[in-house]
Amino acid sequence: MSTPIKTDVLIVGAGPAGAVAAILLARLGIKTLMINKYRSTSPGPRAHITNQRTMEIMRDLELEDSAKLLATPQSYMGEHVYATSMAGQELGRIRSWQTHPTRQGEHDQASPTSVCDLPQLYFEPLLVNAASHSGADVRFLTEYRSLVQDQDGVTATLFDRLTGAEYQVRAKYLIGADGARSQVAQDIELPFEGQMATGTSGAINVEFSADLSSLTDHRRGDMYWILQPGTGVRGQGIGVLRMVRPWNKWVAVWGFDKSKAEPSLDEASVKEIVYKLLGTRNIPVTINAVSTWSHNRQYALRNTSGRVFCVGDAVHRHPPMGGLGLNTSVQDAYNLCWKLAMVIRGQAGQSLLASFDSERSPIARQIVEYAFGCGSSLGALFQSLGIGQHPGEKEMADHLRVLEASTDEGAQTRAEFRRAMDNTISGFGGGYGIEMNQRYQSNAIYPDGTPEPSFTRNPEQYYQASTRPGAHLPHVWLTGNQRRISTLDLCGKGKFTLLTGLSGIAWVETAQEAAKALGIDLSVHVIGPGQTYEDTYGDFSRMRETDEDGALLIRPDMFVAWRAPNDSPPQRVQLLPVLRSILALV
Ligand code: FDA
Repeated sequence: MSTPIKTDVLIVGAGPAGAVAAILLARLGIKTLMINKYRSTSPGPRAHITNQRTMEIMRDLELEDSAKLLATPQSYMGEHVYATSMAGQELGRIRSWQTHPTRQGEHDQASPTSVCDLPQLYFEPLLVNAASHSGADVRFLTEYRSLVQDQDGVTATLFDRLTGAEYQVRAKYLIGADGARSQVAQDIELPFEGQMATGTSGAINVEFSADLSSLTDHRRGDMYWILQPGTGVRGQGIGVLRMVRPWNKWVAVWGFDKSKAEPSLDEASVKEIVYKLLGTRNIPVTINAVSTWSHNRQYALRNTSGRVFCVGDAVHRHPPMGGLGLNTSVQDAYNLCWKLAMVIRGQAGQSLLASFDSERSPIARQIVEYAFGCGSSLGALFQSLGIGQHPGEKEMADHLRVLEASTDEGAQTRAEFRRAMDNTISGFGGGYGIEMNQRYQSNAIYPDGTPEPSFTRNPEQYYQASTRPGAHLPHVWLTGNQRRISTLDLCGKGKFTLLTGLSGIAWVETAQEAAKALGIDLSVHVIGPGQTYEDTYGDFSRMRETDEDGALLIRPDMFVAWRAPNDSPPQRVQLLPVLRSILALV
């Protein structure tokens, strides 16, 4: 075999996790090769909910505006309808993705950006293009086959699917971003909890084109849930029409019983499913693609082995409820890449990389269990009506009729159905705290000795901002030159940042000295009157949980690394040892 191609980091997989890793590393000057075994990015819509934390990463990468151009905005996402068909009886609605008036303010206050609906089909090309423009080498039709690692690096064997040739790549590190059937995770023998393809239910995805604006204009949302008996296609009583493009591109998802014969997936059969969900045959429907999938519930107990790190679905596999799949994958990459870059550049010790596992493996477990749990809330809709998961047409019709009865039974059923419907919010934005409250404990966080404040509301549902080390830096608006700018906009770009108030101006010199001593980039911002950035709304002083002369040390991934409550007696002397500790230089 010829001499191996050399690179700093080989990324296996060009999905959202791999592509974001490639952008980050390339922009930080790290020689990066990303491969994808297929000839193109994902052809199907796949994930679509793009949450605020992911959009904040896009903002840091200066891709937020491009992402928004491709996305459907939050204002078109929120009417979450339950009905017997699109043209049929509406059973009720919930307001999803923080669009309820009581949640909208919290959403707007928490971040400079907004949740949106960006199908993976459109998102992936943006990311892969940005990776290439940023300087990463990108190879399609290139399949990862195997790896061996030693003390100094990883040698991977790749297969060129165009020429049929095998060749080797020698990298300092390898990132396995190769999705739910990760060969890399298998080769490094990551231990997993849970299983793939759980239960007896499978789902059919039917991608189709149809102008449904007459059925949606008055209730704009990204999902329309249809409760209907599954006659003809052995469906399980509930299906969803998921908007891909308002309002003419859709995916219909319909469950089937895997223990029985395979469902018919020919065009006529799936068109029949779509017509049943639409409840009208008056709208022309074009079927574009059909696929099936199963519910996974699996996470890796560890995401790393030596110089190989797995991100994304490679280490967490779960149902789409909650919209956490793509988001967590992108956030894994954001956690890992600044650390890899600093270690490769010699600015941090190798053991900084251990924090990737300590910080992200607990998140993998949390989101898998949360997403899986959300599934039961849909089943509860049927229970509230007093029917099983596989109702016949007559049974379903009889029970739905009770909802309209002016009787005690009708009132009770209505109340139970309403409660069940409200509870389904857990899968459609109700896990806002899961998205926003991630807290890290690791060698890359320097505790300040304060206890973890208890959450005043359910931490899975509500965001509670904090500057305690290990929490994400809270967003507040500042002004610069009278224009609004977020605290998050002052951070990121692969650098550490220190934020302080006007009477903490002495931190500037200390930070500059520390940065020089360590050879790292460390931005310092004194926020106050007459400075580049001013606390015009007073929100920074309310948010920072320190005195004005205290300081917040922010990691490149926007998490608080350390904080000093004030500067008396001078806490500044701690900055250098704190940074040394975080960067594993001690
Ligand atoms: P992803 O699977 O996207 O990418 C893996 C990459 O690795 C691909 O580029 C692949 O070609 C490449 N690869 C794999 N093996 C390789 C090898 N041996 N050599 C080289 N390259 C290799 N999530 C969600 O939140 N909401 C949703 O609605 C949906 N819907 C949905 C539908 C369907 C049909 C699927 C399959 C998945 C979803 N998901 C989802 C999940 C979501 O798509 C998923 O969480 C993200 O794509 C994960 O991103 P990754 O980059 O980790 O893996």
